[in-house]
This record gives sequence, C-alpha cells and structure tokens, in this order.
Amino acid sequence: MLLDFSSLSKFRAEISRIGDSAFHGNTSLFIEDIINKKTPYKVFAVIREEKAAGFLILSTVLDEAEILEVAVSEKSRKCRIGSELMEEVFEWCAKNGILRIFLEVRESNFPARMYYKKYGFAENGLRKNYYRDPVENAVLMSKKM
Ligand SMILES: CC(C)(COP(=O)(O)OP(=O)(O)OC[C@H]1O[C@@H](n2cnc3c(N)ncnc32)[C@H](O)[C@@H]1OP(=O)(O)O)[C@@H](O)C(=O)NCCC(=O)NCCS
Repeated sequence: MLLDFSSLSKFRAEISRIGDSAFHGNTSLFIEDIINKKTPYKVFAVIREEKAAGFLILSTVLDEAEILEVAVSEKSRKCRIGSELMEEVFEWCAKNGILRIFLEVRESNFPARMYYKKYGFAENGLRKNYYRDPVENAVLMSKKM
C-alpha cells in the first residue's frame, strides 16, 4: 500500500530498521525528510500481521520516477514481498502518468539485479566508484512503462 502521512508515522520505526540494516542509515534520513521537511517521496509498504515486512521509496519528477530504496526484512525475503511492492509501484506509475523508472544498484548486489531484471529493468550504464563503505560501482537501470 502507498502509505499516507499517518501510516508512515505508524510504521516509521520498522521501516527504518529494515532499511537501515540494508543501507547504512539512509532510510531514517529519507523518512525524516518526508515527515519534517515534507519532501514529496512516496513510500510503499507491505504490511503483514500489523507490521511492515518491506518498503519501497519512490521519488517522482514530472513523468519520471526513481526508486531510491527498496528492502524486505531479512526473515521475509524470497516470499514475494518485493514482487508485491514492485507490482504496486507499477500500478501507481501507470495511473499517475510515469513514463520511465530509474534506479541504481551496487554491482555486487546479485539478488537485487535479478529482481529488477525480472521486472523488466534494463542495465544501461555504470557509475564508477559511486558507492562508499565499501567503494563500489553503481549499475544504472531503467524501465519504460
Ligand atoms: C531485492 C529484494 C528487495 C527482493 O525482495 P524479495 O521479497 O526477496 O523478492 P521476491 O521474493 O519477490 O523475488 C522476486 C524475484 O527477485 C529475484 N530474487 C530475489 N531474491 C533473490 C536471490 N537471493 N537470488 C537471486 N534472485 C533473487 C528473483 O528473480 C525473484 O523471482 P523468482 O522467485 O521467480 O526467482 C530483497 O532481496 C532485499 O530486501 N534485499 C536487500 C536490500 C536491497 O538490496 N535492495 C535493493 C538495493 S538497490
């Protein structure tokens, strides 16, 4: 589901915990920006038994979108939660006039690269030494809606 302001506040701690363990603390900062600075990112989440099991943060500008983060809690991976998130995002993008979705991913992140490929993203560039801790190339991917 696309979280509104009050459900984002409700699931904030769980989403931050899932994201921060995958992305070294960036998720809390994104959520803080949304809540405190009203940055218009969209946060999608899959809720299981009243708890967030995974989330995806999307940034949009006109008819383009960028996936800033997507993560599923470690114990729930490979159970189609990532798939559910991506399907919801595609539906939202189709309804909201988004023509292309972009993202970047660590070169060594095989599960994520497989995940994006399964959902029709093509690899179309490399940003050398883009990531820190550890330094690594970013693979640029995009999908035409
Ligand atoms: C990438 C991620 C979000 C996928 O979520 P998930 O709920 O486990 O994914 P699903 O169960 O819906 O799987 C969908 C597809 O992703 C791919 N996939 C997921 N995990 C995989 C793995 N460990 N190895 C290879 N492919 C994998 C497969 O193509 C899979 O389809 P299949 O089951 O038909 O083979 C999850 O692994 C994750 O949270 N990773 C850590 C955070 C991260 O790396 N995010 C992306 C950073 S850019």
